[in-house]
Amino acid sequence: MDVTQDYILKNKQRFLDELFELLRIPSVSADSKHKDDMVATANFICNSFLKAGADKAQVMQTDGHPVVYAEKILDPSLPTILVYGHYDVQPPDPLELWTSPPFEPVIKTTDIHPEGAIFARGSCDDKGQVWMHVKAFEAMVSSSELPCNVKFMIEGEEEVGSPNLGPFCRQHKDLLKADVILVSDTGIIANDTPSIDAGLRGLSYVEVEVTGANRDLHSGIYGGAVANPINVLCEMIASLKDANKHITIPGFYDDLLELSSEERAALGKTPFDLEAYKQDLDINDIEGEAGYTTIERTGIRPTLDVNGIWGGYIGEGAKTVLPSKAYAKISMRLVPHQRPEAITALFQKYFEAIAPASVTVKVKPHHGGKPVVVPTNSLEYKAAEMAMKKTFGKDPIPTRSGGSIPIIALFEEVLGIKSVLMGFGLDSDALHSPNEHFGLFNFYKGIETIPYYYQYYSQLKK
Ligand code: BES
Ligand code: MN
Ligand code: MN
Repeated sequence: MDVTQDYILKNKQRFLDELFELLRIPSVSADSKHKDDMVATANFICNSFLKAGADKAQVMQTDGHPVVYAEKILDPSLPTILVYGHYDVQPPDPLELWTSPPFEPVIKTTDIHPEGAIFARGSCDDKGQVWMHVKAFEAMVSSSELPCNVKFMIEGEEEVGSPNLGPFCRQHKDLLKADVILVSDTGIIANDTPSIDAGLRGLSYVEVEVTGANRDLHSGIYGGAVANPINVLCEMIASLKDANKHITIPGFYDDLLELSSEERAALGKTPFDLEAYKQDLDINDIEGEAGYTTIERTGIRPTLDVNGIWGGYIGEGAKTVLPSKAYAKISMRLVPHQRPEAITALFQKYFEAIAPASVTVKVKPHHGGKPVVVPTNSLEYKAAEMAMKKTFGKDPIPTRSGGSIPIIALFEEVLGIKSVLMGFGLDSDALHSPNEHFGLFNFYKGIETIPYYYQYYSQLKK
């Protein structure tokens, strides 16, 4: 891969300039006013695959935002890597908290990225990481060092739960035939501590509505005598965890696979600096389930969180009112072998059961996804270990990530292909937050590492 690495060094600045262009298109999948931007982004990526040397690249329609598919088949007898990523991004709100506009990328330094980081929505999640793959591919093709076949599937709906990618995969099973799926949509522990995600949490997401009286009421005339749905909702939410921060929904932990003490011991070796963690977040203390470390709380334990809560009067000044309705969006992160449909059903049943007679509740399920475990003894995983060792000079540590990529479990179910999660972001890169960024170190380390993955995977697969 020497010629490839040389090519990368010579084209570093152009790779970055092109990524800036990609980041300028506001590909917010959740917001219908960006529908044209989604198409523009898909076209941009499609063309970049053709320029990089793909035999074929196309923007493929779905019932939602399109999927970009590209491939280069050298020889059907060689192994095939399928690269998955997403070009959609989260909404940039709250805009006023960005120190520079979300779709005008700039390089700024931070304590963690003294060499500079790209500040823009999608820089890390996941356009920047998709771009590492496009450029690594270009470098291998230009250098005639591409060692195997490659296919790319870059979707535009990951951030809204990939509702159309399951059907897309079922429809295009033959087209998507491959030996391994390579994904860069996760992170590493630190720039001097490479790691590979050996698991992702699943997700069950619900919206609840609590209704009291048939209309808003004067809080003096009725207050104290009629249920206030906001108060009731808060009490109900509070009762979903006990003093040990254990989730109280009956049956919630039934399918949970407890880790062996060896597995927990291995996870316990993950470097973690609590003081730095608190300092980064400006908090005086952490909280979580009793009996588990922070790494375990995000990696191997399920959780329940309110993502949004609203109702009543939130305008200027004070309005004395007992609102008629209160709402909340609640997510539950799941671990093996919890199943999202089953957990959503348990939640619904319990939430309805604990509602006092003074209110009515409705539970509306949203998207979900199964948790993922990646075996660390497979050759697919070994190739990632070797590639990272080569470029970081250190063995990567297997970790469990708290985030979710619901489509990964589906890939295995529908396509029968295992995924490897070789991501290059950092947890502190402010994904989904204002001021999302991606280190220049991380961007270039990704481009450097990916060709070695191709090389080692092809060698091991022989
Ligand atoms: N790339 C993230 C998931 C992620 C981030 C995994 C960091 C591991 C480390 C992905 O784009 C994401 O945000 N997923 C959503 C789920 C989706 C259904 C909206 C999530 O985890 O909230
Ligand atoms: Mn992502
Ligand atoms: Mn995301």
